[in-house]
Amino acid sequence: MPLIELKNVSKSYTDPGSGSSVPVLRGINLRIEAGESVAIIGPSGCGKSTLLNILGTLDEPDEGEVLFEGDTLRGSDGQRLSALRSEKIGFIFQLHHLMPQCTVLENVLLPTLALREKPEAIEARNRAEELLEAVGLKDRASWKPAQLSGGERQRVAVVRALMNKPRLLLADEPTGALDEKNADGLTLLLLDLQKKTGTSLVLVTHHPAQAAKMSRVLKIHEGQIE
Ligand SMILES: Nc1ncnc2c1ncn2[C@@H]1O[C@H](COP(=O)(O)OP(=O)(O)O)[C@@H](O)[C@H]1O
Ligand SMILES: [Mg+2]
Repeated sequence: MPLIELKNVSKSYTDPGSGSSVPVLRGINLRIEAGESVAIIGPSGCGKSTLLNILGTLDEPDEGEVLFEGDTLRGSDGQRLSALRSEKIGFIFQLHHLMPQCTVLENVLLPTLALREKPEAIEARNRAEELLEAVGLKDRASWKPAQLSGGERQRVAVVRALMNKPRLLLADEPTGALDEKNADGLTLLLLDLQKKTGTSLVLVTHHPAQAAKMSRVLKIHEGQIE
């Protein structure tokens, strides 16, 4: 069974000027297996973020169906989707979205704040420290985001996304604001963590060199996967 499957998914937006409907995704069929790495590429505006947001249950298709671990998401209420996201899906965006007033450690612990029981809270802290060490930021735990470089901030965002041991890690142009060396480093780090944790990784990028590092590359053209 695939981890996540899209069946004949379509999505349109309303043009705010003319009020007409503009198709973005047209009948997408896609299966992502547990533990695989996939790149989604295509020019700006082709629907990469729309597709990623549907995979992440942040957006709903107009038509078609999304199955997560074999269960349809059709008819799910916000509470079920929010629980699914916090338990099974990690997100990384082009901009890190770290809380400026919180330290690195506090930022990565944010997804675990619901854990009020002592043993789980201690476990979360240990995991945060292990992951920060794995991304080379152990000695930055008490720093604030503003004191870090762009590449370091994105590595903090990677750690935060992995805190709840997601089955699916979704990254929307995570290297978009980085120079080439840092971009290469971040992509290789994501792949390394994907292999170590066994999560599936879906990376949106418009850099062919980053995409080529994934085991499968999907190109969006005219709302479909080529
Ligand atoms: N909320 C929205 N309302 C209207 N149009 C949107 C909305 N979100 C995205 N679009 C349009 O859908 C198309 C695809 O957007 P997007 O998925 O963000 O593309 P990409 O990530 O590949 O650059 C673009 O033409 C964009 O303007
Ligand atoms: Mg986008």
